[in-house]
Amino acid sequence: MTIDAPAHQQMAADRHHYLITGGVPLHGHVQASGAKNAVTKQLVATLLTDQPCVLHGVPRIVEVNLVLAMLAELGTEVTWLDDHTVRVHTPEVTGPSLSEAYSGVNRIPILMMGPLLHRCGETVVPLPGGCTIGKRPIDFHLQGLRQMGADIAEQLLAVKVRADRLTGAHIALPFPSVGATENLILAAVLAKGTTVITNAAVEPEVIDTILMLQKMGALVSVDTDRTITIEGVAALRGVQHHVIADRIEIASLAAAAVITDGRIEIAGARQEHLMSFINKLRRMGGEFSETDSGLAFWRDRPLTAIDIETGVHPGFMTDWQQPLVVALTQAAGTSVVHETIYEDRFGYTSQLRAMGATVNLTTQCLGATACRFHNADFDHTAKVTGPSPLQAADLTIPDLRAGFGYVLAALVATGTSRISGTRYLERGYEDPVGKLRAVGARIETVSA
Ligand code: EPU
Repeated sequence: MTIDAPAHQQMAADRHHYLITGGVPLHGHVQASGAKNAVTKQLVATLLTDQPCVLHGVPRIVEVNLVLAMLAELGTEVTWLDDHTVRVHTPEVTGPSLSEAYSGVNRIPILMMGPLLHRCGETVVPLPGGCTIGKRPIDFHLQGLRQMGADIAEQLLAVKVRADRLTGAHIALPFPSVGATENLILAAVLAKGTTVITNAAVEPEVIDTILMLQKMGALVSVDTDRTITIEGVAALRGVQHHVIADRIEIASLAAAAVITDGRIEIAGARQEHLMSFINKLRRMGGEFSETDSGLAFWRDRPLTAIDIETGVHPGFMTDWQQPLVVALTQAAGTSVVHETIYEDRFGYTSQLRAMGATVNLTTQCLGATACRFHNADFDHTAKVTGPSPLQAADLTIPDLRAGFGYVLAALVATGTSRISGTRYLERGYEDPVGKLRAVGARIETVSA
């Protein structure tokens, strides 16, 4: 990927739109990319050492470029050793703060607080801001860091943090937040004493980052009851780490195989990271098998309605919701999809309705559990009735995961859809056009 605009401006406009002609079963073989939600945190973790670190299996996506640009601003030397291998080395943090230009860009700067406090004693990092899927506050992050002794001043677009030395603490998270868990682990590995995080997130991407930290010399243990214990150490060393495969990309491609009635083999896919996805896919009529290099997915019988409730790991992840909702528009009967992680993650369905899908939203909790949103006015349950023939449409992507959902809808629709907002999709999926073409999709790019 060639990037010539400053990193924080890369999100400003689409480089191109997609034209997708539906109706072709997708067949073939693709390689899974490294996980965006692991590698971006692992790049931050490299700030914890003054020694060089090498990450393998790094996806070439805008989000990675953004984090590398942030690191470069702090003084990190970045060298691509090959297409998917990057060496990052921060012998010295030359400036302890990130510019406000990164405010609202992504959720990575707030994860730098711990490493930068250890290296510099103070920092100002830009705030992530809300987005189209919900408010996404950072109160758990800040509360945990305060418990570890950080002095925090919240500004309009940034947070100013100081700490002579972070100290271990017992932190009970109100909800198993992925970002807050990662933030506190990154702060705790070099803190004085022991930190215990209860109700922590244990998503595979979190565990992959813990494995990397362990190779760097950190002492971290994960209990079966979601308790993570970190004994602070004096220093961490450089590391070589291979990034875990992206289970969101894999599930999205699996859904593409099933929705188009094709068969896609995904090298690098691992069953253990997809168990709850595979259960749902199979119940609706999909099937999978292990191959020499990964997993293959296909449709085994006509698709039928199922119920889904998103949840924290090992539950059905919220980022698998969009591809399966689109697939459920092609399933016989009424499916109920209860979103319990984000309050506002069904906005994208309005454009599916315009294509002919029957999707009704409700504020009620229609899953097995009454979730955190049960007395609030959030449309967080969808009833999807199918099968509905979809017609091609002009679609505008509102966020990353909805983006792949729209691609799937276009792949199964009659006619040619034009998709804009592709910058959101390309932020988190590596070469989506090339991969879909490789399995036979009729997808073209046209200038934006
Ligand atoms: N929450 C709070 N306060 C906090 C932190 C979280 O109320 O301080 C709430 C959130 O508002 C949300 C819930 O807790 O309702 C879970 O949020 P979490 O912190 O787990 O999400 P995150 O760390 O911000 C990561 C991924 C998301 C993924 C979620 C859940 C990254 C960069 N993002 O977000 O991925 O959906 O975990 O697994 O890792 C994506 O890749 O498109 C994406 C949105």
